[in-house]
Amino acid sequence: MSRKPIIAGNWKMNLLQSDAKALFEGIKAFCADKSATVLPTIVIAPTFTSLSVVNSVKCDCGCGGTKISVAGQNCHWESSGAFTGEISVEMLADAGCSYVIIGHSERRQYFSETDEMINKKAKAILAKGLIPIICCGETLEQREAGVTDSWIAGQIKAALEGISSEDVAKSVIAYEPIWAIGTGKTCDSDEANRVIAMIRNVVKEVAGASAADSIRILYGGSVKPSTIAEQMSKSDIDGALVGGASLKAESFNQIIENTMTVMVK
Ligand code: 13P
Repeated sequence: MSRKPIIAGNWKMNLLQSDAKALFEGIKAFCADKSATVLPTIVIAPTFTSLSVVNSVKCDCGCGGTKISVAGQNCHWESSGAFTGEISVEMLADAGCSYVIIGHSERRQYFSETDEMINKKAKAILAKGLIPIICCGETLEQREAGVTDSWIAGQIKAALEGISSEDVAKSVIAYEPIWAIGTGKTCDSDEANRVIAMIRNVVKEVAGASAADSIRILYGGSVKPSTIAEQMSKSDIDGALVGGASLKAESFNQIIENTMTVMVK
């Protein structure tokens, strides 16, 4: 089974529109002379206010916009209504998104998002034909207490509850150990691969072998140009969700380039 790698940049709450445009143009320029078949799937998640800016420069190289996809960083599960401050999947699709990141640990931690909310979001995203990037991961305390696997298995089972095998197969999971996010401490790549293989087994349990073979599972947490080739060489790591290193075209493009050296699994 060959799974096309994904390199996704999560810009979090960073960059004004002009900076977002310049960064996106820098990534686009890097991709311009490369065919979509040699590139990994590239996904960029800007702030909501930069979605239209990024989409206005999305891709005019003749690839029909297929080289770089755009993601929302969050969504609500209802399609419209009295939910001040929220944004629906339809609105994200209307703004040019084809992916939505959900369940990021920063949203779970600072905005009290629960597994149940993440499950509703995943269903809403899939119902509108977009792809959820479902985040999971353990704290340092949980790792030290030896409950990493059971905690993550619980997050994945809850997120995928009631979703068809076909839809699970299209989805993306990002394993982001919380202690590795923004800390410069990358999870050992064999350990990241072990956890991701465990996640794939959980997917097999809930959605069957074919979905488990197809679903792309990314690693996130202090990914840098110097770490990506080794991470990508592991059997179950299908790409990366990049935070800090996605905020500079030079480092993000280098991550893409280093991924291309180990592309086919
Ligand atoms: P860093 O790459 O900055 O550690 O962030 C990872 C992350 O949270 C991506 O969603």
